[in-house]
Amino acid sequence: MVSRVIPVDPFDLVIFGGTGDLARRKILPSLYRRLASGQMPDGAHIIGAARSGLTDDEYRDFVRESVTDQVPADQYDAALLDRFLGLVRYIPLDAIGTEGWADLAGALRADMVQAFYFSVGPALFGPLAERLHDHGIARPETRIVVEKPFGHDLESARALNAVLAAAFHEHQIYRIDHYLGKETVQNLMAVRFANVLFEPLWNAQYVDHVQITVAESLGVEGRGAYYDRAGAMRDMVQNHMMQLLCLIAMEPPSHFEPDAVRDEKLKVIRALDPVGPEDIVRGQYRAGPGVPGYVDVVGTPGSDTESFIALKVHVSNWRWAGTPFYLRTGKRLRTRVSEIAVTFKDPPHSIFGHETRRRGNVLAIRLQPDEGMVMRVTIKEPGPGGMRLVEVPLDMSFAEALGEDGRNFPDAYERLIMDVIRGDQTLFMRGDEVEAAWAWTDPVIAGWQARGARAMPYDPGSSGPDDALMLMHRDGRRWREIEG
Ligand code: BG6
Repeated sequence: MVSRVIPVDPFDLVIFGGTGDLARRKILPSLYRRLASGQMPDGAHIIGAARSGLTDDEYRDFVRESVTDQVPADQYDAALLDRFLGLVRYIPLDAIGTEGWADLAGALRADMVQAFYFSVGPALFGPLAERLHDHGIARPETRIVVEKPFGHDLESARALNAVLAAAFHEHQIYRIDHYLGKETVQNLMAVRFANVLFEPLWNAQYVDHVQITVAESLGVEGRGAYYDRAGAMRDMVQNHMMQLLCLIAMEPPSHFEPDAVRDEKLKVIRALDPVGPEDIVRGQYRAGPGVPGYVDVVGTPGSDTESFIALKVHVSNWRWAGTPFYLRTGKRLRTRVSEIAVTFKDPPHSIFGHETRRRGNVLAIRLQPDEGMVMRVTIKEPGPGGMRLVEVPLDMSFAEALGEDGRNFPDAYERLIMDVIRGDQTLFMRGDEVEAAWAWTDPVIAGWQARGARAMPYDPGSSGPDDALMLMHRDGRRWREIEG
């Protein structure tokens, strides 16, 4: 299968926070890969902007290092990197002062797509938006890209939306949730809405429950200060897991267009029931052999922040009433795996008597590490011996099915940055969506805080606290194993 890359128009992309960690790990390597793929034209300009007084060449050294560090050796090409560096320049700039803004205005080309990536803390969103406006840089076609965390709660998210809305229209604001850029996440929509097979069964009449797991084997690493204020609920559930839930639960949009898709997602978020403390299990990893515990890493003795959370969630609408969605995410778990499993109900009547095991069909959609789908079906065990039934997986690894194309999915950031340049907001969160997600999240957090229940300890390398197992056991269900 030959992949078809449609080149984008030449553009100016300014990365505020151009010397930061996200630029180094994700944005710059993604742009390099898009140049390699032929999607990014040589007419593109990438302008790093930050406080440090670097020269263009010093910044190019930074970019070179970022690419050589982050891009696997088999994708690295010295001549291509030189070409890439030729597109890069740097402007020292003070986000809250006046320095550098005139230079930036002078460096931008008229009649060109202009995008500004706010790869900075949310405290700088307002000042940057204002200065872009005051220096006459912002135009009606300008696009800005903002990173998570988009707020800490509903109030702060509203304040951020208001600050951005003072300088830009909603159609100019691209709020990134990188999960939406993952190949399989988009595939969820294709699987649901480009096939006739699943949609008739995709409701409470046929679906027993849905499990969404995002397990990580790493700990909080160097992000303790941020993470300890956020915890798994704010860091993963309010955004990434919420988006996965929306794509599974939403009604078919009339078109694959930004507002049509986002309207449907918003309806799901607004249909979420409040979650009571009995339906939440919070955990925090303790120290294990050779692995420091959560509190040692963040350096806050007595911290009650959860590095794991499991919740039972109900979507109160006609389609889903009575079908629970179990969400689980955590750090320092057995392995890194993200999957969505839709478990269908048992057949209404068994003609095979005691031979029928009461386990419904399961459609497991694997996001990472190896993208694909597995359908569990029951068949007759081959050979003599009567009608014995056995469950077998119908396994479709995208890498196998699609050959090279299935192995080289672009990183989420590659796709999302190109979408910004193309002006396609489908995979970005709208302001009302983010606020609705916080409006659901805030009372959940307030609920457990009022109750004073502490996060349960769990061992690194485990599946989380035992109480998380109970969350499903008491409903007569089981989590799927966290395995690679
Ligand atoms: C980020 C979270 O948004 O997503 C991190 O802040 C988390 O805590 C990361 O590790 C997970 O992303 P991915 O793409 O590695 O699953």
